[in-house]
Amino acid sequence: MKISIIGTGYVGLTTGIAFAKYGFNVVCVDKVKGKIKSLSNGVAPFYEPGLGKILKKLVDERLIEGSTNLEKAVKNSDVSFICVGTPSLPNGLISLEHVKDAAKDVGKALEKKKGYHLVVVKSTVTPLTTEKIVLALIEKYSKKKVGKDFGICMNPEFLREGNALNDALHPDRVVMGEYDKKSGDILMKLYRNFKCKKMRTKLRTAEMIKYASNSFLATKITFANEMANICEKFGIDVYEVMKGVGLDKRISPYFLNAGCGFGGSCFKKDISAIISASRSKNYTPKLLETVLDMNETQPLQIIRMAESVLGNLKNKKITLLGLSFKPGTDDVRETRALSIAKTLLKKGTKIIAYDPKAMKNFKKLAGHRNIVYAKNAKAALRKVDACIIQTSWEEFKNLRPKDFKVMKTPVVIDGRRTFDNTEIFAKNGIVYLGIGWKNFAI
Ligand code: UDX
Repeated sequence: MKISIIGTGYVGLTTGIAFAKYGFNVVCVDKVKGKIKSLSNGVAPFYEPGLGKILKKLVDERLIEGSTNLEKAVKNSDVSFICVGTPSLPNGLISLEHVKDAAKDVGKALEKKKGYHLVVVKSTVTPLTTEKIVLALIEKYSKKKVGKDFGICMNPEFLREGNALNDALHPDRVVMGEYDKKSGDILMKLYRNFKCKKMRTKLRTAEMIKYASNSFLATKITFANEMANICEKFGIDVYEVMKGVGLDKRISPYFLNAGCGFGGSCFKKDISAIISASRSKNYTPKLLETVLDMNETQPLQIIRMAESVLGNLKNKKITLLGLSFKPGTDDVRETRALSIAKTLLKKGTKIIAYDPKAMKNFKKLAGHRNIVYAKNAKAALRKVDACIIQTSWEEFKNLRPKDFKVMKTPVVIDGRRTFDNTEIFAKNGIVYLGIGWKNFAI
């Protein structure tokens, strides 16, 4: 079976690579010529650990290729995956512009294709989009009938940035929403070499599983953050509490790390989308609204901690370590570093910022005004009044108490519980404060 992938962003390219690795011939289609040129040379058009190496190998083995010709790619394949972006609109809903364009183009190509074809929606779309919009557009533009001439599936992705390749090759589960048995049987064949749990369900259920999963993960983090804020009041370490909580099999230890909030392109976008979609059906998801609200206020805990030690932050110099939304990526979308920086700047604080990978992207987001970008973590710490850690990069984990001694006042405010041994700071005369850490002895 030959596969065409429409959209070579994060999801499309990683999915294409995974299928090529499992032996299928894959053609990745994109309108952006630069992306296809880069892909055809075996160079990933964005940063993701491990992707470049495997892509080069698969291109050399002719298992994967790039193309800007969608019609040809669809006509020459048996299955097409729609992997285009669904960005947020100002009202929280997702924009279906690219999904609709892709569905129309696939439909037009199918009009000219002989034989059965399977279309799989992988883009994150709110419930009913596949059956009410994508399916209808394909039927309209192909002049063909679903169930007879073509099939349709919805197959959500659960890729984490920084771990996308591994998640694509070795997923925890594959969820397959199917229009009918024939569609689902073909998708099952594509996934036959994936050793994981597979679930077959309805199209709309598959769409909802993606939203429910991300909503739950974000809620779990927010719950840990709430516990952290409570623990702090009682002089309790929330990480020890969550260790105990996570031992319960029903809860599991994952996604219980408290901090200054979740960032990234997915959680906020997906939760906003499902809230807006629910509201359009006259239901207000209060829990999810609270999750988003709390995530906006959580970074302010860091500012409060800084003020508790330094008093007024006007004209104070503060180092901000870690600008990406999590370690292992240069992605700054929804990074909590921006909320922290903006609040500090409003208070008249001078910021020295550093990140091993994300400085270029952060500069575009936050601008240069009143933010000085340092060469490395150690240089960023020189003569400052406090240091805030927003992303727990390995480079920061390796900092030793002596590295903080170059600060004017050695105060470390840890938004991510970066260090295993937090007791070492006090022993070295360094003030250490952290989210959900026993900051003030009781
Ligand atoms: C997420 C989902 O995990 C993935 O399944 C989905 O497909 C896309 O969105 P990603 O955005 O790459 O993936 O990052 P993830 O590792 O989930 O972390 C998101 C944010 O939550 C980060 O800012 C991270 O620092 C934060 N986080 C994560 C916590 O604060 N605590 C945790 O315990 C885990």
